Amino acid sequence: MTIIALAASSRDQSLNVALLDVILTALDGAAGQVERVDYRLFEDTPQYSARREAAEGPPQGMKDLADKISAADGLIFVTPEYNHAIPGSFKNGIDWLSRISVTLMAVKPTLIGGASASPYGAWRGMKSLRPSIELLGALTMPYMISMSGVGSKADIEARFQDPMARVRIDAALNAFRGQMAAKQ
Ligand SMILES: Cc1cc2nc3c(=O)[nH]c(=O)nc-3n(C[C@H](O)[C@H](O)[C@H](O)COP(=O)(O)O)c2cc1C
Repeated sequence: MTIIALAASSRDQSLNVALLDVILTALDGAAGQVERVDYRLFEDTPQYSARREAAEGPPQGMKDLADKISAADGLIFVTPEYNHAIPGSFKNGIDWLSRISVTLMAVKPTLIGGASASPYGAWRGMKSLRPSIELLGALTMPYMISMSGVGSKADIEARFQDPMARVRIDAALNAFRGQMAAKQ
């Protein structure tokens, strides 16, 4: 079983990279072999345009990523919230991927997370991700791993130890584990 895991930030000290680290530690390989995607791929991908697509086709990096996603059993996407949505570079990558295959993520268990220093915990960013990847067939878990009011990886690790927070975290992790197991 293979999982493609992506945090939509390349920032040093990224909260979302830290959250992905903590999620993967919590899963402890239970759901499969993980391949992490370097987010600079998305940041370095040219802006989608129909004109560019007609002239050049999708960028090679997106074609390679599409092959990896297609071969994967499950997906984990951890995203910051930018202006109540996902970062433009993330949406741009999804737009390119959708031009390669509209069924790219078909029925692949997909866990969504997000972290922010704000009280909303990237919730609106995560919600705005759902329609785009569900259109590509992603089987998104109903629970998402939202980290609000965090400023460091240590804060995220502490939240994972908080019994109140852990109820929703475990609901998300267990849903993902269960859907991955069902694919075996
Ligand atoms: C362009 C931009 C827009 C942002 N909009 C929001 C927002 O709507 N809500 C929010 O909670 N944080 C917002 N932030 C703050 C990010 O959540 C914060 O920078 C976060 O740490 C980015 O994720 P990272 O640490 O993984 O790089 C925004 C940041 C940027 C750069």
